[in-house]
Amino acid sequence: MNIIVTQNYDDLSLKAAKHAAEFINANPGVLICFAAGNTPLGVFRELVDMHKRNEVDLSSVYYTGLDEWVGLGIEDEGSCIKVMHDALYDFVSKENVLMFDGLDPDTEGQCRKAEDWINRHGGIEYALLGIGMNGHVGFNEPRTPDVEGCFTVSLDDTTKSVSMKYFGKELPVTTGITIGWRTLYNSKKVVFLASGKEKASITASSLTGLNTPDIPASLFQNHPDLTVIVDKDAASLIDI
Ligand code: F6R
Repeated sequence: MNIIVTQNYDDLSLKAAKHAAEFINANPGVLICFAAGNTPLGVFRELVDMHKRNEVDLSSVYYTGLDEWVGLGIEDEGSCIKVMHDALYDFVSKENVLMFDGLDPDTEGQCRKAEDWINRHGGIEYALLGIGMNGHVGFNEPRTPDVEGCFTVSLDDTTKSVSMKYFGKELPVTTGITIGWRTLYNSKKVVFLASGKEKASITASSLTGLNTPDIPASLFQNHPDLTVIVDKDAASLIDI
């Protein structure tokens, strides 16, 4: 595991964007999985700026959505599809992106479609992931089953209460759809991001604590190509 500790969030965003851009430039045609959530927003901002300066061609690779709130669509504030389009995918060729449609009642169909997309592109080459307050990755919640492919999940109470920060109001979200952790683990390169004091405890448990499905992020500790980019607040409890 390669841990990069940055001075602050802006520095984290720049370093992670450079890391992703370098990978994209060296690997045209591959499939990338970017988490939504708040942490990577600065990375996406930097990537779009680099794209505009012709330092990276964001349409030279393909993208898969990581997860979605069942019941929310592109018009809904805080849905993963809206967050990702506003931040990044509106700058990318439409046919290069597949996100889950949280409004489709056929969640199984959505899972099979995403699996087919991932398989057709030869699996995920680069996954940029966040760590939830409960250690979740995507919507692989605590005590996650070992799932290859995609599945529908009952959301953990912590995830439900944290969701307010995305929606700006209380929404009765109960279910998520996500790429399973095994498929994420099989990504060639995995990058985790964490920022802020509130992430310090779960970041330390995820990186240096027990390797356990109770903390899904900890299951990546032995990944053969794992980079962790954290700001010094999120890194403050890691014993490096
Ligand atoms: C988002 C996602 C989640 C987040 C995690 C951290 O697509 O899959 O697992 O990465 O909850 O979210 P933030 O970055 O908002 O703290």
